[in-house]
Amino acid sequence: MILVTGGLGFIGSHTCTRLHESGYDYVIVDNLYNSDISVLDAIEKTTGARPKFYNADVCDPSALEVIFRENEIEGIIHFAGYKAVGESVALPLKYYRNNINSTLALCEAMDKFGAQSIVFSSSATVYGEKNPVPYKEDMPADSAANPYGRTKIVCENILRDYQAANPDKKVTLLRYFNPIGAHPGGLLGEDPAGIPDNLFPYILRVAAGKLERLNVFGNDYDTPDGTGVRDYIHIMDLARAHTAALEHLKKSGGFNIYNVGTGKGTSVLEIVKAMSETIGRPLEYVFAPRRPGDIATSYANVDKAREVLGFTAEYGIEKMCEDGWNYARKHFNL
Ligand code: WQD
Repeated sequence: MILVTGGLGFIGSHTCTRLHESGYDYVIVDNLYNSDISVLDAIEKTTGARPKFYNADVCDPSALEVIFRENEIEGIIHFAGYKAVGESVALPLKYYRNNINSTLALCEAMDKFGAQSIVFSSSATVYGEKNPVPYKEDMPADSAANPYGRTKIVCENILRDYQAANPDKKVTLLRYFNPIGAHPGGLLGEDPAGIPDNLFPYILRVAAGKLERLNVFGNDYDTPDGTGVRDYIHIMDLARAHTAALEHLKKSGGFNIYNVGTGKGTSVLEIVKAMSETIGRPLEYVFAPRRPGDIATSYANVDKAREVLGFTAEYGIEKMCEDGWNYARKHFNL
């Protein structure tokens, strides 16, 4: 049985559909802080099976005790965590307490109940601003640009040291680049509460007429068209990377880190162009000042995931926009 923490979130819920497709038994724990119980219905409608769900806080050892006693948990995929970069700057203690305590509580539960493996949701943010692109897993990952990224670095180090002290445990860190898009069924996607910080959910709101125009944060970066370049990966490819990691853990162990991206950089204006083609009309945008903390370019070296996990992202920007727009039309009743 796999325990999926944060399984009602954007990445967690899409990964659950992939776990189901791949024949894994799994159970979800989520405290609904940044997700909605309706996502459980959406997973059921998408997969045809209603997952077992615990409404609980992963930081709470007594809640984990109930889950581990009631289920034979062999492995964990740990998504649960706060992830808004801007909020982390304003509320660092909230981010350190939640993101670190949840990881510590899970390691202690693994000790107490014998779960063998954990796959941790890390982020390209840990590469910071000093490493050259494309980022490689063996580069220094110790200088994130914000408290959110620094909590990921602390959690990576907790898990590294935990595995070193417990060689029988298996720890995999997946460093996500920029997951976007939606499940092709249109029932799952990303629509955060409030005004979206991230590019893609913001663009979907503009396309849906919920927001007037996109503010492009800076067009004077040292990039081909002056706008920020990122490694956008289809959320379903990202989900598949998790089952590829679990499959690999069936025959190997230790401590491993993998980038999960496409290995290609795409600019904000290229995303705007692709979404304009998807919706059949120009997406409204205006150039605005750079966003503090942003870097010009980020994209992955994806050799290790390909060579070790046999994982390569399949979908391109067009499919990410099509599936995202399909979700938005259903979600906003367009
Ligand atoms: C992408 C590009 C912006 C919004 C962050 C976190 C990362 C992960 C994903 C949690 C940049 C530009 C954005 C807008 C814009 N989060 N942009 N107008 O910053 O690469 O990554 O979110 O796991 O850890 O660091 O993603 O989508 O915010 O920005 O022009 O309204 O879009 O400047 O170039 P980012 P993003």
